Amino acid sequence: MRRLDQLLANLGYCSRRQAREWVEAGRVTVAGRPMDYFGAKADEADVRVDGEPLDHPGSLLLLMHKPTGLVCSHEEREGPNVYSLLPERWRQRNPAVTSIGRLDKDTSGLLLLTDISPLVHRLTSPKNKVPKVYRATLDRDLTPDLAARFASGTLLLEGEKEPCAPAEFKLLGPREAELTLTEGRYHQVRRMFAATGSTVLTLHRAKFGDLELGDLPAGQWRELPLDYFGT
Ligand code: URA
Repeated sequence: MRRLDQLLANLGYCSRRQAREWVEAGRVTVAGRPMDYFGAKADEADVRVDGEPLDHPGSLLLLMHKPTGLVCSHEEREGPNVYSLLPERWRQRNPAVTSIGRLDKDTSGLLLLTDISPLVHRLTSPKNKVPKVYRATLDRDLTPDLAARFASGTLLLEGEKEPCAPAEFKLLGPREAELTLTEGRYHQVRRMFAATGSTVLTLHRAKFGDLELGDLPAGQWRELPLDYFGT
């Protein structure tokens, strides 16, 4: 049970003040009856706004195909972001919808978004070793010995003291490779290749855990069941 004004504001419909006006104007019903007291508490499932059930009154869990050119930050000054691809109302929700880990502006691929903060912590914690698969193209020919270097658990990134956890490397072509990581440090794939002398030209995340993009086009998203990762 939540207060009507709080409910509408938290689900991104409008500000708390506007929510009070909406309720007083008779736009909100509870269990089929008009309710003009904004402080009334109601079960989300019973509430209608202009006759419509509430928009995702529970949580959100989304799988997005992130295109290049968008950042995962909410900070407007960092440029256009992935949240701009979501419905306006979802962008106003509280708690905010946020990405589960980040992909760089120039990286495309599978990005999860949610407003369930314990899930963000669980899936981004290196302790949980969720495998993430990246496909990279490089500026020079790669050698198969990289597999042993990345798997060794001794590779150091510039400016860091803790070596990278073992990562699985697969050569896909002379300048193309797949790298599976279980941690998510800043620019990790680019920095791992940099540590071995090559520069990443393009980077795409193909998998997160057992999730894949399938035929989801870049810039699109789909919902996942809220209990996808268990409860
Ligand atoms: N590693 C990177 O370098 N960039 C990403 O976006 C993700 C992993």
